[in-house]
Amino acid sequence: MRDALGECRTVLNVGAGAGSYEPVDRYVVAVEPSRSMRAQRPQGAAPAVDATAERLPFDEESFDAAMAVMTVHQWQDVTQGLKELQRVARDAVVVMTLDAPALRDFWLTDYIPEVVDVEVTRFPPIELIARVLGGKGWAVDVAPVPVPRDCTDGFGEAFYARPEAFLDPTIRRATSGLVLSPPAAVERGIERLREDLASGVWDKEYGLLRALPQRRGAIRLITATRIQR
Ligand SMILES: C[S@@+](CC[C@H](N)C(=O)[O-])C[C@H]1O[C@@H](n2cnc3c(N)ncnc32)[C@H](O)[C@@H]1O
Repeated sequence: MRDALGECRTVLNVGAGAGSYEPVDRYVVAVEPSRSMRAQRPQGAAPAVDATAERLPFDEESFDAAMAVMTVHQWQDVTQGLKELQRVARDAVVVMTLDAPALRDFWLTDYIPEVVDVEVTRFPPIELIARVLGGKGWAVDVAPVPVPRDCTDGFGEAFYARPEAFLDPTIRRATSGLVLSPPAAVERGIERLREDLASGVWDKEYGLLRALPQRRGAIRLITATRIQR
């Protein structure tokens, strides 16, 4: 994210939530429509405006860059929101999101394939985001985001090397793909995982992942850079 923002000094963070991944080394304004999310922003965090991506209350090219992390799937109108980010950004738009079909490469979906079905309906296709951002005068790059083995953020793929984590209901409750999948399917899959961990089947099949320092999974960083006005 820092690399993608490059030299940009002023940044609009749209769908900012409590401010995770928000740069602290630049001038930032946040946009966040949820009062409860705004209330969770730590003291000293960038000021948050009550607005939505689809209708940003800023003039053209007000910021060097606009960013949106794990939020486009919640917008009412993704195309309109992305166009708004490009309207207010002078040089770059950076979007982090999930390439839902790529979750098929994650071993958890061998146990609970329903997670992919759920996420494919929730997340806009990467091709759509790239197409909208890749209009005249903009160049778009899509890159997978490597996730470290000891990632402290508790999203599903963060536990690629720590399968035992999914036996913990607290961890399952923090993974929306599992929360939104049919409970019976999740229960069935987790029971099979529990058995496979106890018998060594999981380690035989996927055990090499325990030593993999980082993994490129389904998270994508889409960077649009203005190449001409
Ligand atoms: C999963 S959270 C991510 C928050 C933060 N970007 C992060 O990575 O931790 C998604 C956020 O998008 C916000 N959101 C939902 N609809 C939105 C919209 N139309 N425009 C802007 N933000 C929106 C939600 O209120 C929520 O705070």
